[in-house]
Amino acid sequence: MSAPTTTARLLPGKPVAEAVLADVATRATALRARGITPALATLLVGDDDASAGYIRIKQQQAADLGFVSPHEHLPAGAGQADVEAVIKAWSDDPAVHGMLVQYPIPGHLDYNAALAVMDPDKDVDGMHPVNMGRLALGMPGPLPCTPAGIEALLAHYDIPVAGREVVILGRGATLGRPLAMLLAQKRPTADAAVTVVHTGVKDWPRYTRRADILIAAAGVPGIIQPEHVKPGATVVGGGVRYEGRRILPDVDESCADVAGAITPRVGGVGPTTVAMLFRNAVTAAERANP
Ligand SMILES: NC(=O)c1ccc[n+]([C@@H]2O[C@H](COP(=O)([O-])OP(=O)(O)OC[C@H]3O[C@@H](n4cnc5c(N)ncnc54)[C@H](OP(=O)(O)O)[C@@H]3O)[C@@H](O)[C@H]2O)c1
Repeated sequence: MSAPTTTARLLPGKPVAEAVLADVATRATALRARGITPALATLLVGDDDASAGYIRIKQQQAADLGFVSPHEHLPAGAGQADVEAVIKAWSDDPAVHGMLVQYPIPGHLDYNAALAVMDPDKDVDGMHPVNMGRLALGMPGPLPCTPAGIEALLAHYDIPVAGREVVILGRGATLGRPLAMLLAQKRPTADAAVTVVHTGVKDWPRYTRRADILIAAAGVPGIIQPEHVKPGATVVGGGVRYEGRRILPDVDESCADVAGAITPRVGGVGPTTVAMLFRNAVTAAERANP
């Protein structure tokens, strides 16, 4: 049997990220011209290699954009009070505009409790409960990065979203739930009819098969197969599972035979997520220095 031919248009995240980061760089330059150096602080707890790698990527990106990036590395045995002391100190420091706690943190620590002591205006991940509340209410604030990156990706490739049927598989706090709120907002790049499906909806393919835009946010490798996709639909793969260095996406590659447009297996949503982190950071620096 011959190999299936890919027909879908590919939607790589890199050009989207480059466009966003070019704008961030311009805004950072304008801030520096006013004597304000944007600062994105990073906190790593423990010695997980992958997490240390992600921090290095973010610090390199910060340097490339003309940010400074103060960094704290706490040992794996650090207590909750140690973590919260760092976050509080940065929250009180006017020279720090944004911060992130690299996730995951060691299991004895409470990530949500740590996040709660952060100044929400400096929360570049957009995951603080106040920022989730702002998102729900349509108030300005740092947006969760992966959902914001997906909206930017769809806009970049002129995929119509307004008035279209968007189905999201997964209602997790990082991706599915905030993305549903974002894409239902009244705005030309959103304004969609959004449906969220999950394990409570046993016949979820009934919903995904009618989606103009199907977004996988489950973290279950290969859960989205061609028979779950409406021919010609746009498919965005957000959910992934990591096995060591291997990336196992939710969307099976064969979906490209049915979809009209699809994010690539690697290099789809990921680059846009990092770009949004810096967009949140430069926005925080501007808001702190009107
Ligand atoms: N690419 C990126 O940059 C990026 C960034 C952040 C997150 N992610 C990925 O996004 C994914 C979602 O993360 P999250 O934290 O938002 O979600 P999460 O807390 O891991 O939740 C997963 C969601 O998927 C649903 N689900 C799982 N298995 C299912 C099944 N067999 N059938 C139907 N629904 C199923 C779950 O349903 P229930 O609620 O019913 O349990 C849940 O709502 C993860 O894979 C994560 O790695 C990617």
